[in-house]
Amino acid sequence: MEVKLKVLRYDPESGKEPEYRRYTVDMPESATVLDSLIEVREFHDGTLSLRCSCRSAICGSCAMRINGRARLACKTQVSSVAEDGEEIVVEPAGNMPTIKDLVVDMAPFWDKIRAVKPWLQPSGPPPEREYLAPPQAMIELAEVMNCIMCGACVSDCTVLEVDKSFLAPAALAKAWRFVHDPRDGNTAARLRELSEPSGIWDCTRCNFCVQVCPKDVKPMDQIMKLRAEATAIGITNNAGSRHTFAFTSTVKEGGRLNEFQMLPRTHGLLNIAANLAELPGGIRMIRAGKMPSPFTHKIPGAAHVKRIFKRFEHAKV
Ligand code: SF4
Ligand code: SF4
Ligand code: FES
Repeated sequence: MEVKLKVLRYDPESGKEPEYRRYTVDMPESATVLDSLIEVREFHDGTLSLRCSCRSAICGSCAMRINGRARLACKTQVSSVAEDGEEIVVEPAGNMPTIKDLVVDMAPFWDKIRAVKPWLQPSGPPPEREYLAPPQAMIELAEVMNCIMCGACVSDCTVLEVDKSFLAPAALAKAWRFVHDPRDGNTAARLRELSEPSGIWDCTRCNFCVQVCPKDVKPMDQIMKLRAEATAIGITNNAGSRHTFAFTSTVKEGGRLNEFQMLPRTHGLLNIAANLAELPGGIRMIRAGKMPSPFTHKIPGAAHVKRIFKRFEHAKV
């Protein structure tokens, strides 16, 4: 099988701009993208840099963008991304600086993992033997414990693309692993820290991290669990939490979202500084004709919507 690759080549130390180079290699039908790249490096162009180790989707070192989406190169068969012999575009993982070609600097990734304190912090006197956890609790954590730290989710996180301070999906999924561990005694403090800016409330729920994760960790789902847990124990004095309450309460009151009220309710009416900071954006919205009307009316079935909320709240109790 003829495999055509278009690989982004870049050496920051050379002073040259990144450029695509094309390679054609002859591979067996079962070949993966990683097999093909190794073939290039071994027999066509020894200057190509890439990172790999296990070649079995275990070590997490070969995450890169293949046809625009983060994947493990060793888990991606050529036939699954280039059905009719099309060219395969290979680029380094996103949201991390390129060291050379397909090798990225994972330091920002590890900094974020460390920031969530990924170790048990038990409270109280230590047990005579080891800390025990009920099997069910560990079963519930199996999903997140499958993470192989490949960084694919971080590569394609849309928030991280615009805000480098965001803790990002892998670290937040790791945080859930310790928040939900019954042996940990620091849950409230963890959740308070995670509710700060750049934490759980900054995720826009784009779902990309769920789509690209090769181990089905579902990072966004774990972030939503952290939000629910923080809210349940009363950590609600933050913009993200207020935004969620503003959203649901306007729908409950009028049957539909009142966009005009979202900002003041999110920041708090008396938070003059935060509301003023939104002024430039507001002016741009007015100029573009996008400012929502301050006069929104209840929809005809508003009472029915309210009943749905009541029934739901009753069911929760
Ligand atoms: S769902 Fe949230 S964490 Fe996941 S990629 Fe989108 S913004 Fe990032
Ligand atoms: S959550 Fe999934 S995509 Fe993200 S680092 Fe872990 S295994 Fe990789
Ligand atoms: S080489 Fe180990 S995960 Fe791909």
